[in-house]
Amino acid sequence: NAKPLFVGNWKMNGFRANLTEILNVEESIAKTPFHGDVVICPPATLAALAVDALKKSVIQIGGQDCHAEEAGAFTGDISAEKWKDLGAGYVIVGHSERRAYYQEDNKAVKAKSKAVLRAGLVPIICIGESLEERKAGKTLEIISAQIDGCIPDEAQSAPIAVGYEPVWAIGSGLTPTLEEISEAHKVIREALHKKIGDKADLTPIVYGGSLKPSNAKEILAILGVDGGLVGGASLKAVDFLEIIRACD
Ligand code: G3H
Repeated sequence: NAKPLFVGNWKMNGFRANLTEILNVEESIAKTPFHGDVVICPPATLAALAVDALKKSVIQIGGQDCHAEEAGAFTGDISAEKWKDLGAGYVIVGHSERRAYYQEDNKAVKAKSKAVLRAGLVPIICIGESLEERKAGKTLEIISAQIDGCIPDEAQSAPIAVGYEPVWAIGSGLTPTLEEISEAHKVIREALHKKIGDKADLTPIVYGGSLKPSNAKEILAILGVDGGLVGGASLKAVDFLEIIRACD
């Protein structure tokens, strides 16, 4: 089975003053170890500060996105190699907010995933259906196609993680039923098998979308859910830790 993975995606939230939240997560995990991987992806401005402030190597810092190229004239962008140079371990790619606001399609997500693997980091490849797609009964078809279109061949020989985030569940307080989550993760695992073979069984497929302390236990207990991709509830160490500990 896949090792549990929890990712806190701060999105465009947080200032220097909030770095203590990251240190509090580190402190707790150092004191009471967790049998999985814990990653926090703050804004890039804070990521560099966080890497320097972390002392115990029990949690990792990740990027929220990257450019597919290694370097060059791409104002405002950050390459996977830059994340590597910083000391990050993971980079989120294909988050639905990137897909919606920056028109990133599966092809672009695949190129970014490739870049993250090229840099020697772990891509957290995000997929998920929109509300219209769910209503039209197209969820399973969409997520299978996203896996097919976003996972590069290089993933056959290097670790990746997949984030399943129904777009309509993000930041809305709404979540799919436990059966729907279970079904989606099963289909994702099958689609992954076609791309990377048995390695799919060791690849964490984490759930994201309004995951919070009050629903974490039941969602994380679903077979095939290997952890969480947490947005809002990752901003406070107490909430994020409660979600992580719900997996114990
Ligand atoms: O990357 C995180 C997800 O988009 C989930 O966000 O927990 O605020 O719903 P949320």
